Order: sequence, then C-alpha cells, then structure tokens
Amino acid sequence: MDVVVGLQWGDEGKGKNIDGLLSNGVYSAVARFQGGANAGHTIKMGKVTFIGHIVPSGCLQKKIELYIGNGVVVDVVSLIKEVEQLKDLGYDVTSRLYISNRAKLVSYLHPFLDQADEYRRSKLGTKVGSTSRGIGPIYSDVRARRALLIGDILSLDFEQKEKILSEFHLNLLNMYQEKYGFEIDLKKIKEAREKWDNAIKELKKLQICNLSFLIQKRLKEGKNILAEGAQGAMLDIDFGDYPNVTSSNTLPANVCLGLGVSHTYLRDIYGVIKAYTTKVGGGNFPSRMKDGALEKLFQKAGNEFGATTGRPRMCGWLDLFALRYAISLSGANKIFINKADICLSDKIKVVTGYKQNGKILKEFPLYLNQVTDVVTEEILGWGNKNYGVHDKKKISKELASYLNYIKNKLSDLNVKIVSIGTGPDRDHFFKWD
Ligand code: IMP
Ligand code: MG
Repeated sequence: MDVVVGLQWGDEGKGKNIDGLLSNGVYSAVARFQGGANAGHTIKMGKVTFIGHIVPSGCLQKKIELYIGNGVVVDVVSLIKEVEQLKDLGYDVTSRLYISNRAKLVSYLHPFLDQADEYRRSKLGTKVGSTSRGIGPIYSDVRARRALLIGDILSLDFEQKEKILSEFHLNLLNMYQEKYGFEIDLKKIKEAREKWDNAIKELKKLQICNLSFLIQKRLKEGKNILAEGAQGAMLDIDFGDYPNVTSSNTLPANVCLGLGVSHTYLRDIYGVIKAYTTKVGGGNFPSRMKDGALEKLFQKAGNEFGATTGRPRMCGWLDLFALRYAISLSGANKIFINKADICLSDKIKVVTGYKQNGKILKEFPLYLNQVTDVVTEEILGWGNKNYGVHDKKKISKELASYLNYIKNKLSDLNVKIVSIGTGPDRDHFFKWD
C-alpha cells in the first residue's frame, strides 16, 4: 500500500496526483481513511470535471475500486449526491464503491452543532473557520462513544439509536440557544432531516461491508491499494496548529487505524505541496504574503477558492520550516510539487525559519501565534513561463533553480521530488528527479 497526503494546510492538489498515480495501472483501489465532506477535490478527465468531497478521487477511473474506511465520517447526503452526479456523467460507481460498516454516520444535526459552536467561538474571537460539515461534532461523538456507525443503518434498532442521539443533539442546540443566543432554524432542520432520511434509504442500496477484511484480502491477492489523505499535515488534530485544525489525524500513521490494516503493508508515502502555500479558515499562517495585492493575484491565478465552501484562501510563500516538520511527521519519501506555473512576481520568497521575539526557533512551536517573525530567503521568480510544460528540459532556468534550491534544503531528509505540476489538466506536469 502507498499513501498520498498533503504536507501543507490542505488544497495542495492531491486529487490530481492521486488520479495520475491510479492511471499507471499499479493500483486496484483507492481508499479514504479519515475526514469527511470537509474535503474538496477537483478532478478532470478530458472534458469532464468533477468536484468530489467524500467519494475517493479515483472515481473517474472505471477499473479502480473505491473504499471509504472506518476512519471516515460519512456525510450521507453528499455521498448519495456525488454517486448520482457521477452516474449522470457516465460513471456508475455503485458496483465498485465499498463503505466500511465501521465508518461513522454524520447526522443531519451535526452541521447545525458545528455552526452553533462556531457561533460560540465567534463571540470569543476564536473561530476555527470550520467548513460547517459537522466534522468536529461527529468526531466528538465518536470519542464519547455515542456516534452512529454506517453498519447501524441495517439493524432493527437504528431508529431507536437515532432517536436517542437526535434528542441529545437537540438538547445541545437548545443549550447553545439559551447560553449563547444561537438561533435554531427549525425549518432548516426539518429540511435537513428529510434529505438525510432519503439519503439513508439510498445508502442501504450501496455496498456496506467489513472493509478491513476486504482490504486485507486484496493485499493478500497481491493487489496494491492507494490510501488517499484529505486536508494536510498542518491540519492534523495532534500535530497541527491546535485548535485551528480539523478533527482527525491527517498523517499517514492514521492509515492503519482508519482502514484496519497493519503498518507492515505501508510502502511509499507521497507528500503533496504547492510551490507556494495556502490556508483557509482561522488561525495563524506565518508565511502569509505581506503584500495584499500580490496575495489577490495568487488567489485569482491559482483559483484559490475553497472547493467546499467557496471561501478565498490566504496565500503565502513556501514554508520550508513547516514542510520539514510535516516531512518528519509523515515519513514522506516522495514529493509532488503542484502549481509551479503560478508565479506572479519577479522575486519570490521562501520561509526558512521561525522567530520568537528575535530568537530563531529550533523546534516547531506549540502554537503558531508564538511566531513573531519569519526568516526568509529571496529567489528569482519565473512569471507565467512554465504553464503546461511537460518536459523537464523545457522549463525556465528560474524554476529549475527554485526546484534545486528546495532539493538542497531537504537534502538531509530521505525525500525525492518526483513530479512537478504546471497546470490544472492531467498532462500538465513533468517528472523531476
Ligand atoms: P473542519 O474540518 O470543517 O472542522 O474545519 C477545520 C479547519 O480545517 C478549518 O480551518 C477549515 O478551513 C480547514 N479545512 C478542513 N478541511 C479542509 C480541506 O479539505 N482543505 C483545506 N482546509 C480544510
Ligand atoms: Mg481541497
């Protein structure tokens, strides 16, 4: 098994790299192991563009099995919608989509609880900027041992279990209303409930199984499986900038637990970055561009607007200090660098270190708000010269020297830069090392 994870704050373009790896004929399946419909990836196949949130990225490759692991929190309305959208595009995935019976079921009230808690935080000035997909509340329920599992929908006591949980959630919502003034919109809740009920009916028609068993069977048959990470290392609940993180472990260590396989199966860890950095939602972002006008140019050229929420993403320079931290935690041994065609200034910066009150930090800090300044190095930019290039020999000398610079900065780590993205299409890339 190999793994693809983001090494920044998500939105590194993993979907495209996953699609590329799957098209090599090496893998029989792709498996999501964490997160939920907070993720958003745009996949292109010829004239077809598909924006997915919960269905794994290999959905446009007809021979690839699609797995949703036990570590995933399943937004059933999104799932059914995507399955239907794919059918309309000519990709019926129902016979090759397998969902773990141990995956967790996001309830129709979880997104409301997410909004309610963000409302509470907004009064404290500590908004996480959640995607409002109910991710925090469902993972809280999982840890508190009251969540519904996907397998529950097939059992006779599902209605009863659901009723108990919904009552609990409604009590919580009432608490948010009474204590914090959060407005409960009963009409919206009713609508959400109806959509959810309908989606559950459709979910029953899909393949719900003991996915860990299936994956182990496939591996023993000699098949290779690609694990697909969502979000990125800097959003990991344990090692990201807590609490400005998502509610799951995004690091490859979670592949084993989120799918039910032993670590002995893990081989290559592909880490994905962009040639610059983006972040969406709340929290600190040390390498953010100081020039607001330039940031806007990157947003526009890089189409840096969330695939899930449409929010503009903050743009920053490549942060090598954070990247080295992410590589050490993830064990990434191969790196994809995306969006190398987007470079909008003559000179670009790279963050090589963090400072706290004038002192250079040796270790990654507990909280990113402890970073008072960053150490940067300046490098020549390349404008829009490299769009769509797919031959290493044809890239501009400035881009070549940027890539060599990154390679040198990471030379003490066991990583290889394997491929560079130069545009949104499938063939917009070139092989590097
Ligand atoms: P949540 O996962 O929706 O609770 O959001 C928590 C934080 O993670 C917020 O700052 C989100 O903007 C961020 N986030 C969650 N999923 C993604 C993603 O797929 N890409 C980028 N940021 C994300
Ligand atoms: Mg995304």
